[in-house]
Amino acid sequence: MSIIYDLIIKNGNCFTGKGFEELDIGIRNNKILKVGIIPKENGDNVVNAKGLHVIPGAIDTQVHFREPGNPDKEDLESGSKAAVLGGITAIFEMPNTNPTTDNFERFNDKLKRAKGRMYCNYAFYFGATENNLDLIKRVETLEGCCGVKMFVGSSTGTLLVKKNEAIEAIIKTSPKVVAIHSEDDDLLQIKKKLIKEGDVRTHSIWRDVEVAITSTKKVVKFANKHHKKIHILHVSSKDEMVFLKDNKKYVTVETTPQFLTLFAPDCYEQLGTLAQMNPPIRSKEHHDALWVGLLNGTVDVLGSDHAPHTLTEKKKKYPESPSGLTGVQTMLPLMLDHVNNRRLSLEKLVELISINPCRIFGIKNRGQIKENFIADLTLIDMNLNFEITNKWIASRCGWTAFDGKKIKGMPVATIINGNVASLDMQIIDKKFGDKLIF
Ligand code: DOR
Repeated sequence: MSIIYDLIIKNGNCFTGKGFEELDIGIRNNKILKVGIIPKENGDNVVNAKGLHVIPGAIDTQVHFREPGNPDKEDLESGSKAAVLGGITAIFEMPNTNPTTDNFERFNDKLKRAKGRMYCNYAFYFGATENNLDLIKRVETLEGCCGVKMFVGSSTGTLLVKKNEAIEAIIKTSPKVVAIHSEDDDLLQIKKKLIKEGDVRTHSIWRDVEVAITSTKKVVKFANKHHKKIHILHVSSKDEMVFLKDNKKYVTVETTPQFLTLFAPDCYEQLGTLAQMNPPIRSKEHHDALWVGLLNGTVDVLGSDHAPHTLTEKKKKYPESPSGLTGVQTMLPLMLDHVNNRRLSLEKLVELISINPCRIFGIKNRGQIKENFIADLTLIDMNLNFEITNKWIASRCGWTAFDGKKIKGMPVATIINGNVASLDMQIIDKKFGDKLIF
């Protein structure tokens, strides 16, 4: 019988859009050609997926890969390798690099750096400033651009849009989704006095719920006024979740696996400054409310907010210690463990990490296991027991806050643009990543 497919994924429990069904996937020229029953003789290369779940490639819509500027923390190569080992087939990368990605020359420089060097697919955010509205107007046709990122509260790096008129103008004008780091900068400055040197527990007292909800109410008001789409990143509090539940007409919502797995004060007592991030990990009450928001449909997307810093920096005395946790490699493993612990279904997880990123940001031709879609797939072993360790982390900075955590459920292989990019939890040493089309 003649060879029809470059690759067949055989006997996997495939996500069909509703549930899971044991099927074969035939791939040719990077695309899914058939989903059904396919004799193995019809393929050049066959991956046996018996006993595994096959989902549309998992996408991480919030990572910081630090290139250009901080190769000691991460770069596009090391970050994308970590992504693939964590079952991620595409990432959206943030503009708070050094220099910041807030003009076309720097944006195109990132695209050039990424070409041929990334293990997974990619897109970049264009950074908003108080002075680049003329450029933001023109991002609609900017290739490889997933959206505009606006920090309305200061965090890592120098990007900040502080003035209300500028915040409103950017939301009103941007032709692409504006993804927002939502903490009110005036309140952040006023409350800085609440920081106690050496006590990282005061991080969530400084950057408290008022800081977050004040900002979130403001940006949602602008989105509703101008009928423009915004995406609120790493929502951390009960108050925001309750407010956002009834304000979703123009607004989509992200939360992170860190917030869904850790809570204060335990996280600070156990991990110290390793648990320090912006916005901060809050109390159990907020943690529980984020789970409610995730299950009632308020949360649309999970992003890891992968924010690598070196261990030496992280171990500095608070508040000199920088904010951010690595996460791109642990997002899916942690969430699969939550699935095994019956906190959410695997179908719901697929919606959050595969389907919704494509819908919200308009990624073309991905996010489904269906004929003519590009073959980005994540293969999962729901029964695999695994211990997350620093040694396993491929990020340049080499640490995770979850070192020593035992979990059940692991991504074991990825298919990227029709190519086997990782198998048996090992990376294939070839770079198959390409820029996403919107
Ligand atoms: O904790 C954080 N770290 N939050 C951010 O918004 C930025 C990030 C970083 O780039 O380090």
